[in-house]
Amino acid sequence: MRPVEIKEGIFWLGAVDWNRRDFHGYSKAHKGTTYNNFLIVDEKVTLIDTVAEEFWGTLQCNLAQVLGDRKIDYVVANHLEPDHSGCLAKVVEKYQPEKIYTSPMGQKAMKAHFKYTDWPVEVTPTGTELSIGKRTLSFLETRMLHWPDSMLTYCPEEKLVFTNDAFGQNWATSERWADQVDRYRLEELMANYYANIVLPYSPVVLKTLATIKEMGLEIETICPDHGLLFRGDDCAWAMEKYQAYAEQKPKNKAVIVYDTMWHSTEKMAEAMACGLADEGVSVRFMCMKNNHHSDVMAEVFDAAAVIVGSPTHNNGILPLMADMLTYMKGLRPQNKIGSAVGSFGWSGECVKILTQWLEDMNMEVVEGIKNQYIPDHEVFDKCYEQGKAIAAAIKAKL
Ligand SMILES: Cc1cc2nc3c(=O)[nH]c(=O)nc-3n(C[C@H](O)[C@H](O)[C@H](O)COP(=O)(O)O)c2cc1C
Ligand SMILES: [Fe+2]
Ligand SMILES: [Fe+2]
Repeated sequence: MRPVEIKEGIFWLGAVDWNRRDFHGYSKAHKGTTYNNFLIVDEKVTLIDTVAEEFWGTLQCNLAQVLGDRKIDYVVANHLEPDHSGCLAKVVEKYQPEKIYTSPMGQKAMKAHFKYTDWPVEVTPTGTELSIGKRTLSFLETRMLHWPDSMLTYCPEEKLVFTNDAFGQNWATSERWADQVDRYRLEELMANYYANIVLPYSPVVLKTLATIKEMGLEIETICPDHGLLFRGDDCAWAMEKYQAYAEQKPKNKAVIVYDTMWHSTEKMAEAMACGLADEGVSVRFMCMKNNHHSDVMAEVFDAAAVIVGSPTHNNGILPLMADMLTYMKGLRPQNKIGSAVGSFGWSGECVKILTQWLEDMNMEVVEGIKNQYIPDHEVFDKCYEQGKAIAAAIKAKL
């Protein structure tokens, strides 16, 4: 895509990664992604972030279209993960900027990533103001949202904020603005991004939103480093969404995530799903053989209850469930009810192990159900009643 002038003298450059499906090596980007970066043409020409290294050609082409015979004076690095800093060393080498601005943690990360000795790096702790001509840039450190070096760059004259990964969505589109695309899809992809990347740092999100309010920052344009940009009323919309995501208030919804060898665990879990659904709870029934852990997480994120199922396998649980639980625990979901279900043959450790995972995630545990070999009607009845009991626990929590 060619550069887009998003405000007079401010350009979206970026690269649209249409064919990307594997995002960062561990999550799914079913609709591709974009790496957004921006160029402010002022007295000092300022580049905000870069793109993934493989798009160096695109970045050079975009820069040439906007720069003409001008040079890049300043580079701002809001976030040093390689999807945004992948071309930084090449930019420094080719365009020889006067200064590179980054957060205090960014300077450390930059040294560790690029091993430079002579880059003109300047640190911009929160509150630093930088004049680039008609415009000012001010910086707000957002440490651990979602890397130690993350910061926001705000331009008061334009009421515009560059937010790196915050407010991002994985969606390769020809459109650039949120108001040009289907809202339901946008919301779904923004929540998916949050659930898989930002979720563990929800306390930092809440703090950052409070700081933005306290500082009275007026925001009319939000420019994240992935996906669509927000303008006008959409800015308040995006911030309200983030406030809600970070608060993690559960919905009337349960996720049943399981794996099974001979379908006994699956049938028990399905009886639980019936009990939940009959009490009016919305149920997602997800076998790990057919669902990627990042898609499961997108559903777990706003659910009130998570039921995990696995048979006992070699005195443990099935490996796809171990993968799921490892992934889920790392993302630190809050305010959930948890329960376990599993069929076993002889030693029967499955439910105990699954329950331990739920406890480790501070879930409110409803005692699980295990059954030897093939479940019969009596077991299905028990599982159905368990579904109803979990539904009651959900209702009490909402
Ligand atoms: C390779 C393999 C290893 C197993 N290991 C154990 C085990 O260590 N302890 C146990 O209680 N059952 C073990 N089982 C038995 C299963 O847990 C049992 O068949 C169960 O009913 C399968 O449930 P599913 O139909 O949900 O796969 C094992 C089964 C297989 C095929
Ligand atoms: Fe990132
Ligand atoms: Fe990113």
